[in-house]
Amino acid sequence: MSQPVVDLDMTNGIAVIAIDSPPVNALGHAVRSALLDALTRAEADPATKIIILACKGRTFSAGADITEFGKPPRDPGLHEVIERFDQCSKPTIAALFGTTLGGGLELAMGCHYRVATDTARMGLPEVKLGLLPGAGGTQRLPRLIGPEKAVAAIVSGKMISAKSALADGLIDAIVTDPVQGAIDFAHTIDPKVTVRVRDRADKIAPAQADPAGFEQAAAEATRRLRGVEAPAACVNSVRNAFTLPFEQGLAAERDMFMHLVMGDQSRAQRHIFFAEREAQKIPGMEPGLKPAPVKSAAVIGAGTMGGGIAMNFANAGIPVTLVETDEAALQRGLDRVRDTYDISVKRGALPAGATAQRMALFAGTTDWSRIAEADMVIEAVFEEMDLKKQIFGRLDAVAKSGAVIATNTSTLDVDAIAHSTKRPSDVLGMHFFSPANVMKLLEIVRGEASSHQSIATAIAVGKAMGKVPVVVGNCDGFVGNRMLARRTTECERLLLEGALPQQVDAVVLNFGFPMGPFAMGDLAGLDVGWRIRKHRGVTAPISDVLCEQGRFGQKTGRGYYIYENGSRTPTPDPEVAALIEATAARLGITRRAISDQEILERMTYPMINEAARILEEGIAIRPSDIDVVWVYGYGWPVWRGGPCFHADLVGLPTIVERLAHYANTTGDVGLQPSDLLTQLAAEGKGFADFGKGAKAAAA
Ligand code: 3HC
Ligand code: NAI
Repeated sequence: MSQPVVDLDMTNGIAVIAIDSPPVNALGHAVRSALLDALTRAEADPATKIIILACKGRTFSAGADITEFGKPPRDPGLHEVIERFDQCSKPTIAALFGTTLGGGLELAMGCHYRVATDTARMGLPEVKLGLLPGAGGTQRLPRLIGPEKAVAAIVSGKMISAKSALADGLIDAIVTDPVQGAIDFAHTIDPKVTVRVRDRADKIAPAQADPAGFEQAAAEATRRLRGVEAPAACVNSVRNAFTLPFEQGLAAERDMFMHLVMGDQSRAQRHIFFAEREAQKIPGMEPGLKPAPVKSAAVIGAGTMGGGIAMNFANAGIPVTLVETDEAALQRGLDRVRDTYDISVKRGALPAGATAQRMALFAGTTDWSRIAEADMVIEAVFEEMDLKKQIFGRLDAVAKSGAVIATNTSTLDVDAIAHSTKRPSDVLGMHFFSPANVMKLLEIVRGEASSHQSIATAIAVGKAMGKVPVVVGNCDGFVGNRMLARRTTECERLLLEGALPQQVDAVVLNFGFPMGPFAMGDLAGLDVGWRIRKHRGVTAPISDVLCEQGRFGQKTGRGYYIYENGSRTPTPDPEVAALIEATAARLGITRRAISDQEILERMTYPMINEAARILEEGIAIRPSDIDVVWVYGYGWPVWRGGPCFHADLVGLPTIVERLAHYANTTGDVGLQPSDLLTQLAAEGKGFADFGKGAKAAAA
């Protein structure tokens, strides 16, 4: 028999209904049924005066069970359960702790009162799944905290602290123990009076009289959003809270929810939610393998990346020692870190005093013996193999036994680096993305000898830093940059064949990326790629010409675009257009008009092809890992679910046909559809089917 998912205790006139459904008390079908049953029994008992809704385990409910979305609904629905708490003839009190999210908070708002522990956080994050709160959240939250604050919370999906929740009226008291606190709170209320959130009008009255404040808050909340459907639905639904009667607002909310939950955007965002968590699971890793504790860390090289990586350690509360070649370089690195913290404090992203607090976790040295006790060392020196080998040899001599030793290399062979030590099993790549303190992606590069223990430790440290770790294999460019290289090649070709940077960038921007590839190149600096090309003996005609003219991008005021007077806005430059035409003519290429559709295909399909090769070679474990890499490292719009998810939506036969066409027109055999892509397309399958056979066999 399965464990009961809801527990009912009725003692001394107090009924405590406790959800017990690990790990996060999601409100799946079994929980909903059991909740209704428990409520019916509690309400029917004449001895019951007060009903407390609680949760066992690590948190109050995290909301609806996301795995049920897209499947046929099963009664009772969450609406019905919430309605019953709302209509209950006896006062209901929700006892919150941990993270009360989505449907969990909607259920709590269906109760007549809410108390929470001081560390509790609550929110309606449905927008992050391409949805709006669909169980009354858009109607009840405005009635509790006002439509302006509600629209900001619902469109951002951000969590609210217990302190703010109390100040704004979302909860009625802060307590020490959730259930005991709710019992104590019950003594302060009249047990014969039930205060239904739906009947509260005080917080929505001002917006009913004058909606200007709400409209301004709504405009502010949606200001930077492009292409996504859910935020507008959230705004419209919150507006209904003060323009429509409660029941009508609720019905409209449900209709919008049903529309969104069936759509591709929400499917994509749910895919990424689960993909991010799946990426932490490494096949073959011993179950129960514990990451080694990392109590202190060291970073070699305090340059652009080293400083940012060290900040990640400090942000996770781990003391970190920065190692440099001389005092001046060390000081420059530490100053840069301090300045970055100061800027965050000034912008309000960090509280006052945070700089001193975080800097207290930093030590700087030129003396390698000072890192002998570090549990993890990350190397971030210049991208030169000989130097890296030398550094790892030195680390081998200095680092304590069992320490994880990682390289932040973006292009070099992790195995070659690992074998410059006598302990290659402790070595792996930890490839952060610039700016390292901001970008969420962390590619963990598994070398041929990397141990499961060191991989597990790197994953745990990455998570503690707030990163999204993805384990990848060792190859040129790993997953992300290897795919990006395909796009970069097409960028050059498109310019030579007839497009202009602004046309290509507009297509990529319209697709949903935050930036087009050319504006991105200007931001990163075109000289970086130029130097790498020269080193590798390869050319990129347009980019080379720009660099030869000193057009390195934003830092020189000119690149693919022009940046006047320190502006960061790319302005198309007729000189660049002329330069592209001249280069094409020199190479004997007749330029032609290129459609936006062709640009989009060439900006995405070659990367998708490379993704398939990466899977064939076992460099990525699963297609969804590749999606996570692109969403968190390169700005692939989350609502398009990543390259593999997108490819399945387009249909692999189309992609295979177009790739063959472009291989033909460009003469680039690298564009020929890969074996895996061709095979999946021929079998009527998609990336989602990759590895399914193997999994079924293993099961
Ligand atoms: N439904 C189903 N599974 C869920 C879930 C949910 N709402 N929330 C978390 N899980 C699963 C995760 O997939 C994971 O499964 P796994 O162990 O098999 O990989 C497990 O629970 C633990 O989750 P995390 O690894 O994320 O645990 P953390 O402790 O790091 O985080 C959390 C906990 C903050 C609650 C985080 O899981 C989270 O943000 N969950 C989603 C919350 C959410 O979006 N709620 C809204 C749902 S939509 C809704 O309610 C619709 C309503 O308006 C009608
Ligand atoms: P950087 O040039 O800004 O910093 C390198 C630092 O290493 C310098 O401060 C230098 O003084 C120091 N250094 C050199 N030799 C040293 C030694 N023997 N001991 C201690 N310190 C030494 O370089 P950046 O950009 O930070 O790159 C570092 C590494 O990170 C490279 O491997 C690079 O490929 C990789 N990387 C860079 C990214 C970027 O966008 N800049 C992104 C991802 C990885």
